[in-house]
Amino acid sequence: MDNLKSPRDEVRTGPSSLLIRDAHIWTGKDIIRGSILIEDGRIQRIARRIPERADEEIPARRLVALPGLIDAHVHLRDLRLSYKEDFTSGTSAAAAGGFTTVLDMPNTLPPTDSAQRLQEKTRRASRKILVNVGFHTAAVKDRRAAKAMKAAGAFSMKLYLPKPIAPLEVEDDLAVVQALKAAREASLPVTVHAEDASQIETTGRIRGFKELVRSRLGNAETSAVSRMLRLQTQIGCRVHFCHLTLPSSVSAIDDLHSGRLSSEVTPHHTLLSEDSVVKLGWKAWMVPPLRPWQTSNSLFRAMATGTATIIATDHAPHTIREKRHSPLRSPPGIPGLETAMPVMLTMVNKRKLSLRRLVSLLSTNPAKVFGLSSKGRLVNGADGDVALIDMKKKGKIDPERFFSKAHYSPFQGWRTQGSVHTTIVNGSVVYREGEITGKPGSGKVLRNGMRY
Ligand code: DOR
Ligand code: ZN
Ligand code: ZN
Repeated sequence: MDNLKSPRDEVRTGPSSLLIRDAHIWTGKDIIRGSILIEDGRIQRIARRIPERADEEIPARRLVALPGLIDAHVHLRDLRLSYKEDFTSGTSAAAAGGFTTVLDMPNTLPPTDSAQRLQEKTRRASRKILVNVGFHTAAVKDRRAAKAMKAAGAFSMKLYLPKPIAPLEVEDDLAVVQALKAAREASLPVTVHAEDASQIETTGRIRGFKELVRSRLGNAETSAVSRMLRLQTQIGCRVHFCHLTLPSSVSAIDDLHSGRLSSEVTPHHTLLSEDSVVKLGWKAWMVPPLRPWQTSNSLFRAMATGTATIIATDHAPHTIREKRHSPLRSPPGIPGLETAMPVMLTMVNKRKLSLRRLVSLLSTNPAKVFGLSSKGRLVNGADGDVALIDMKKKGKIDPERFFSKAHYSPFQGWRTQGSVHTTIVNGSVVYREGEITGKPGSGKVLRNGMRY
């Protein structure tokens, strides 16, 4: 064993290899016993027995190897909002949560609304990230600008219907149609935050978080979803619906069976309800807000039976100081990268969700939707992104221990079973048993090369 080197304390100059020994490997259909050899960042071989030695070996007899998880909806902030989260803290949280790839949202300061801003973000991120990161950009009407953002690597144009990220008359169908056409011509999908501003109550007196939540009822979502489905049919671009909260929205998209539509649900909207808002106030305040428990229950079932396309966390960190303002001034959003797997694995252990479905929702399907063709599966030649899971390990959600700068969560105190043991990004261990072992720069900035 004396020729074993730890890649952690050396400057890598040549090829490196990592061997995950004797794991339970998720093949896409079932679990087999075997080892995974990763060389130069790619899966070289998966076999029952691999006799070779590698630069680093991980004994994994009690662990389940899953393809690295992909979170298509996170807010890593950074730039002028680094006080809330930065590329290093946000991707450390991702690593601790088993996520090897995240796609970051453009509502930053300044917003990611041009190819130049995307390039600046890319340059800054590449030195600071521990997992792979791709970027969404703001929706724009200008076709040349959309094409330039695509050429700079954008994964989608984000259409935030309640309030535009970059100047765009979001309430005007003509303006939205122009943006959808620009997306189609640039071969970019559109990611939509589907809440109709005209359906959000702004007049009544709001004293508490419960009233705030009640001011944004499900009809704001229903109305925005049906409007977007109508416009999508007209234009034919690809549309991905972010964080849907109603089972009827998810099934409206599924019913159309169009390869050009996809839906996303979050752990919080499927597992928590308005009751958490009553109990926890700002800790459970996000938009769209939590719904009555009957709704979240049936949303969970829609997800567990396969109607939703993906799970994303909508990791949206703020400082506790900001969150504690009065309801109307409290920024919506909760961190989610470090709670998603423990709470969802708990559901798998309780047999409310199959592991197969969870892997589809958190890895295989997001890879398909966003054109990450070398990710989402553990097969020869795929990227060396792996999450090693301990299905038995019990824990308790403790926001104090988050790597995210946002030390709060509506899941605080939840007792969980199932946890992320080790996270491997591009063949390097970036997280192991509570510790970050990767270095800023061990992740790659991903560029979207897909035609939609
Ligand atoms: O709760 C939310 N927070 N919803 C959003 O749409 C935006 C996000 C944020 O950026 O904080
Ligand atoms: Zn949103
Ligand atoms: Zn979001």
